[in-house]
Amino acid sequence: MHLDTEPPSWRRKSNQNPLDSEKKLESGQSPITKRQRLVFQVHITRGDHEGRSMIISWVTPVEKYPNVVTYWEAGTKHLHKLQTHSEITTYRYYNYASGYIHHATIKDLTFDTKYFYEVASNEVTRQFSFTTPPKLGPDVPYTFGVIGDLGQTADSNRTLEHYMSNPIKGQAVLFAGDLSYADDHPNHDNTKWDTFGRFIEKSVAYQPWIWSAGNHEIDLASNLEETDPFKPYLHRYYVPYKASQSTSPFWYSIKRASTYIIVLSSYSAYGKYTPQYKWLEQELPKINRYETPWVIVILHVPWYNTNHYHYMEGESMRVQFESLFVQYKFDIVFAGHVHSYERSERISNIKYNITNGLSLPVRDINAPVYITIGDGGNMEGIANNFIYPQPNYSAYREASFGHAIRDIKNRTHAYYCWQRNQDNEPVVADSAWFFNRFFSYGG
Ligand SMILES: [Fe+2]
Repeated sequence: MHLDTEPPSWRRKSNQNPLDSEKKLESGQSPITKRQRLVFQVHITRGDHEGRSMIISWVTPVEKYPNVVTYWEAGTKHLHKLQTHSEITTYRYYNYASGYIHHATIKDLTFDTKYFYEVASNEVTRQFSFTTPPKLGPDVPYTFGVIGDLGQTADSNRTLEHYMSNPIKGQAVLFAGDLSYADDHPNHDNTKWDTFGRFIEKSVAYQPWIWSAGNHEIDLASNLEETDPFKPYLHRYYVPYKASQSTSPFWYSIKRASTYIIVLSSYSAYGKYTPQYKWLEQELPKINRYETPWVIVILHVPWYNTNHYHYMEGESMRVQFESLFVQYKFDIVFAGHVHSYERSERISNIKYNITNGLSLPVRDINAPVYITIGDGGNMEGIANNFIYPQPNYSAYREASFGHAIRDIKNRTHAYYCWQRNQDNEPVVADSAWFFNRFFSYGG
């Protein structure tokens, strides 16, 4: 990543203008000259560890302006508008040249407060709003949406629309990896990253999505001489990893209301003594369950999966980390990758030591529930290839597209449900009450 101060010299040499995809989406619009200061792909995510900062991102296709976000508290008598400049980055990928990608971190926000923000040029003003999370506390209710492997197909659109019109209103999205699926297109067609940014804007411009990286973010293509893994993802989706003393955007933590959220990377080294492992070790004692009773992990490759697709792919990572998850009584682990839905029982498989033969998962009241939510829409189809008979550690599984809601009530109780795209919004296909691992000992 680098900060550009001048238009890159290669911009006009590119044979693939980033506006091409924009044109397709808004046919009949004026030519580039009138559109060149428009603002696209607005998205927000958390900017710090506690909840008083937001990273606001947008793309300007041809010029690096507007590069300022203006924001203010809603409903205040004397409007006090503040401004923050963006950090600007660009990248090339094979024959693609990105627009100017802006990331502005706004700070010192008030908890539980609605803010308006706008990015404006002479030609256009685009205004959005968000609400900051409530102050941290053990009994603070909060509702997360959970989406994975979204893509940008008709199914993806149904998932997003379904989530947005769910009567249980999610306040932030936990995203389990695999965003645009640009890499499934010839030459990793990076205009698909642009269209994906536009597709999700209707939600992510108004509430933060908490990102984790999947295999479709790797974008490694030695045949195209693209040898920097995760290049498009890293330029487009900033995360506040330094706020949790992480050394990499692929693993980090944030606190939100009554929940401690840990993002891990299935595609970074996780063996003992690796940066990711050492970071998690240092992170664990920092979790104060009297402040944030709920601990949620997001990663991409599921550890418990009863689908032939990607079966056992998460095994080596499970072996490294699972005993820590049980020791620290984590509540829930969300994964994507497998393009279907599954919820596990509370189980662990940490007794096995090569010689003792104890290699089967067993019920474990201190273990988290594992949920595979890779059913966002992708572009490779549904993963309808389950292992039969259904192993007893699998509580519910189904090959349908959908999203989940995690509705935390207080320090002991959280409601969880999964909703299929083929049902009406209030219809719940799978649900469970969660009893906090630290404060209660119920099922
Ligand atoms: Fe996927």
